[in-house]
Amino acid sequence: MLTPFAELLAGRDDGAVGAFTCYDLEAAVAVLDAAATRGSGVILLIGGKVFAGERGPLLLAAMVAVAERSDARACVQLDHCQDLGAIAAALEQGAGAVMADGSELPFEQNIAFVHRAVELARACGAGVECELGGIRGDEDVARAVAAGALTDPGQADALMERSGADCLAVSIGNVHGTYRDPPRLDWERLAAIRACVEQPLSLHGASGLPEPMIERALEAGIAKVNINTELRRAYLVATSAALPHVLDGADITALHDAQIRALREVAVDKLGALEGALR
Ligand code: 13P
Repeated sequence: MLTPFAELLAGRDDGAVGAFTCYDLEAAVAVLDAAATRGSGVILLIGGKVFAGERGPLLLAAMVAVAERSDARACVQLDHCQDLGAIAAALEQGAGAVMADGSELPFEQNIAFVHRAVELARACGAGVECELGGIRGDEDVARAVAAGALTDPGQADALMERSGADCLAVSIGNVHGTYRDPPRLDWERLAAIRACVEQPLSLHGASGLPEPMIERALEAGIAKVNINTELRRAYLVATSAALPHVLDGADITALHDAQIRALREVAVDKLGALEGALR
């Protein structure tokens, strides 16, 4: 059932809500099924570049329709978007949240951009996440990258205060895709951000982070964790393993079933890890 972004993030003192990137209906079905099985709330992400493509608005509408019909409490979020027109379009299609990513803009422009996104979102009852610092790495193609600019705690406070956003994506050594070096998160920085910012914090780039590191991040106050690459890999491995068996009968249903099983397994695992002390 569709659930407000703020409600999914609230009361996550000892756990976090999982946010999973979906590229098709199979992914949305699998993630929602995993969340319903675990009794967890969940966020379905549609990437900014995917939404900007020809089929993006259709996929978003389909994700909202599947979330609406699910027993799991769910919200669909447009992820990493730098374009107010696309943010308005996603909200119109039923997105319950957007990530207004102004992290590459000069600080004051980032605030103004996020503030405008908040105005658009509020008119639809939707939530807004923003970013400060630079979480490096391509969001759709895994390449090994090193961490980008880290989030400044004082600026984070000002960004949240002046923009009115609901959630802040922190850059504390996390990257999208593949970690070039063994991941190291800046715990002191996270504690300083937590001390300054009262709104929920999100951790992007969770693929490739060992479970104890994710647990520590939850203890340090992370309320939302974004996962993509590990799902994509599971989907592709399952597709490749299923192909020899389904080609003979040209059985697309069996292929989709294999993809859903693989995605569901990863999502169930991750949701379990995000339960934190509640486990
Ligand atoms: P990963 O692909 O590294 O899991 O990152 C996902 C993400 O942060 C989406 O915003």
